[in-house]
This record gives sequence, C-alpha cells and structure tokens, in this order.
Amino acid sequence: MAKKLYVKTFGCQMNVYDSARMADVLAPHGYSSADSAEGADLVILNTCHIREKAAEKVYSELGRLNILKAARRAEGRRMYIAVGGCVGQAEGKEILRRAPFVDLVMGPQSYHRLPDLLRRAEAGGVVDTEFPSESKFDHLPEESGATASGSRVSAFLTIQEGCDRFCTFCVVPYTRGAEFSRPVADVENEARRLVAYGTREITLLGQNVNAYHGAGDTGEFSLARLIHRLAEIEGLQRLRYTTSHPRDLSADLISAHGDVAVLMPFLHLPVQSGSDVVLKAMNRQHSADDYRRLIEKLRAARPDIALSSDFIVGFPGESDAAFEETLTLAREIEFAQAFSFKYSPRPGTPAAENEAQIPEAVKSARLAALQAVLGDSQAAFNANMIGRTLPVLFERPGRHANQLLGRTPYAQSVHAELPAEYRGHCVDIVITEAHTNSLAGEVAPGSLPAPTSDAPISAESFDEGQPA
Ligand code: SAH
Ligand code: SF4
Ligand code: F3S
Repeated sequence: MAKKLYVKTFGCQMNVYDSARMADVLAPHGYSSADSAEGADLVILNTCHIREKAAEKVYSELGRLNILKAARRAEGRRMYIAVGGCVGQAEGKEILRRAPFVDLVMGPQSYHRLPDLLRRAEAGGVVDTEFPSESKFDHLPEESGATASGSRVSAFLTIQEGCDRFCTFCVVPYTRGAEFSRPVADVENEARRLVAYGTREITLLGQNVNAYHGAGDTGEFSLARLIHRLAEIEGLQRLRYTTSHPRDLSADLISAHGDVAVLMPFLHLPVQSGSDVVLKAMNRQHSADDYRRLIEKLRAARPDIALSSDFIVGFPGESDAAFEETLTLAREIEFAQAFSFKYSPRPGTPAAENEAQIPEAVKSARLAALQAVLGDSQAAFNANMIGRTLPVLFERPGRHANQLLGRTPYAQSVHAELPAEYRGHCVDIVITEAHTNSLAGEVAPGSLPAPTSDAPISAESFDEGQPA
C-alpha cells in the first residue's frame, strides 16, 4: 500500500544527505515523500545534538507530532514517529522515557535497517543505537537520483563519517562513532550517477572530511587524490568539500586548490578560537599561528580563495585577553563568511566537566562583539563583488517570477532575472547589488549560452529542499 513519509531534518549537511538516503531505503517498501507531517504514515525526525538548543528542539517537535498522532488514531489510523540522527544516538532510551509515544529511536548508523526496525516497532518502542560492525554504506541502496540531497543541481555526497579527533567540547565522536572513509569506487560511482541525473556541483561531506583515506584501485587515496579523480567526471562543473580540520589540511590538498579547476575557491576551515590556551584546552592540536600559516599557503596556491570558519565563544576558562585574540584573528583573516556560537556544555564531553564555565552574560557579550567583526568582513567581502562578473551556477527559482537563484564560486547566493531553463547552467553575471547574505546581478552582455536541451533536468524533478 502507498504510504507517506515525512522526514524533518535538523543539524548539518550530513543529516540532509542521510535524510535523502532514508527515503531511498523506504521507497521499495511503498513510502513516497510528503511535504508535511500532516497525513504522514511515518514521520522521522533526523536530529542534531551539537548544542543544547538543537537537542531541545526535538522535544518541542515531538510534542506537536503527538497531537497529530492522536488525531490520526481517532481516525483509526496509525502514525509512526521515529527519532534518528545524533539525539537518537546520544539519548536512546531516554527519548522513550520523555516521549513514550515515539515508536522508534535509532542512531545514524542504523538507517539501512529501517524496514526491519519499523516492523519491530509495530509492537511499540524500539531503540537501536548499536554501532554495527558492518558499514551502513554497504547496505544502503544506491542513491536513486530522484532523491538527491541538496538542490539537485548542487548535491551532497557523504564520503567520510565519524570523527577520531575528540575536541573536548564536541559530541560528534560519540554520536557518529569512529572515523570511516568510503572506498573510492563507491564515491566515484555515486558522483557519476548524480551527474547523469543533472547534478553540476558536488559537495563532498564528512565530519572531518580532509581526514578522508579511502581504499582505491591504486592504494589508499587522500582527499586530494579523490578530488583529482572526481574532477575527471565529464559534466561535473564544481566540487567543494566540508568540514575540514586545520590539523588534517595536507600539502597535497592545498596544492589541489591551485591545480584543480573545478575545485571551487572557497574553504570552510573552522578555527574555533584565536587563543593558543583555549585551542589547547579544546584539544584542537594546532596553534593560532599554525592556522595563519595554513591560510597563507592556501592563498599562495589560490590567490582568490575565500574563507569561512566556525567560532566558539565562552569556552571554559576563556579569559578576556584570550577572547581578544579571537577578535584579532577574525579581523586579520577577513573571513568571507563565518558561524559563531556560544559554548554549550554537552553531556559526556570533557569540557562540560570543567569548573571554569563562563557566565551566560559574558558569552552573550562576546558573541555580539565577535559577530560584529565577522559581519563587517562578510559585508565588505560581498560589497567588493559589485561591478565584477562572476560565473553563477543557477540552482533554483528565486522569490520573484522569471528570477533564478544561484551561487558564485565563493558560495554567495545570487539572484538574477533569468528564464527557468537556465537552471543547471553556469552563466556570467555582473554583480549589481550586495547585501549581507546575498548578491543580485544581471546577465553579462552577450554571455547567455543557449540552454542545452540534452541536460537531463526537468523543472518538475527538482527538490526544493534547502539545508538549514
Ligand atoms: N567537524 C567540524 C565541526 C562540526 S560541528 C570541525 O571539526 O570543525 C560544527 C560547529 O559547531 C563546530 O565547528 C563548532 O564551532 C560548533 N560546536 C560544536 N560543539 C559545540 C558546543 N559544545 N558548543 C558550541 N558550539 C559547538
Ligand atoms: Fe567535533 Fe569536528 Fe572536533 Fe571532530 S574535529 S571532535 S567533529 S569539532
Ligand atoms: Fe549535529 Fe550530528 Fe551533524 S550533532 S552537526 S547532526 S553530526
């Protein structure tokens, strides 16, 4: 019988990718995707545990779902509620205790077992948070193209999962388990399938993606070697990768930024703090100057590279002087984009046990000060684009009729007036307006290519979902 599946995704891009793969697993079992929880036979919350706020969202969401479930029961039908993702892994049975109406709790390594788990859940309350010895990637069905994660023109591809770095603030090594790299042939086949379905840009994903070391036909491949290999795929116009750890940014990867034309000149390289004392306490295993040297090398390899980063303010023991060092580093590097967070103590992580916790008010003040600096450099970076002509890959319809939304090589969003058939095309755009989070522009005179009719993209086949 045809059944409706609604997956709500929280957290990082890996969850966006996983949600699409869960839909792949369930499709042969009669599930098709729905746009909302109303009327769904199965609702999966794909959750995030990275900060307290993210984790707490799950319970408010579950409260709303319970009302829908009760309404459906009154109609004599059953709505299954499943909690997957990192909160599922971290909290397991605790979720059933706080929300006994949940049918299934599972971790990110259990998705290939979903059909079996759902059968067992008919009798109520199943928890599966084992880290199985087999890799879920060996058991998940092939990425179906129809459910490509991202916007289809630009898709995600998970190549590495888990993390062995154990930064003292972070739950990921506990929720995703030990680092695992997918074999090169698997990654390459999946990339080729995506391109055959119309994908033009692939973002390679991993919690610590530059630690990638997958088995290949000629021995172990580093991320740089994998990038060189994937760059040969005809029709693939752009490659990106995220998220990187500074400690694993090898010389061959830095060189790839100069050598591989399809590798975009944009890198998200979280630094977290500009203070060596704090970096040490975080177990980041590099100094602020190590980070500066990496940026210099990247800029030498690819002078126009734009940088993005993550910061944590108010890490236990962070002094005013230490925080000033973070501001200094942020001003120096001039990030094109950055995410900054107040430190959130997470259960089971070493930093949560630290007695030198920083008061909330201090964290808030520091966050505001840092965001002012980061906001200024992002605005300056965008303003600097005005008058320049940039190749923009158009991914989806814009807000207005006859408008498309795309991205520059530096990952900035660009609106331009363009007919719908230019989705999936890279068009030269003269930038005319710059805002904090997006740009607007016009087609450069004489640069509009004829839209190719052989591009296997139909407007209907686009997935409009955009990761948070
Ligand atoms: N693998 C990536 C980070 C993944 S988590 C890396 O190594 O950089 C994404 C971001 O969330 C982190 O870069 C960090 O800035 C932030 N973060 C992680 N744990 C946090 C915590 N306990 N409190 C606040 N922010 C946190
Ligand atoms: Fe978390 Fe990233 Fe550190 Fe791994 S490297 S523990 S994912 S912050
Ligand atoms: Fe969140 Fe898990 Fe990703 S904790 S950031 S969903 S790896």
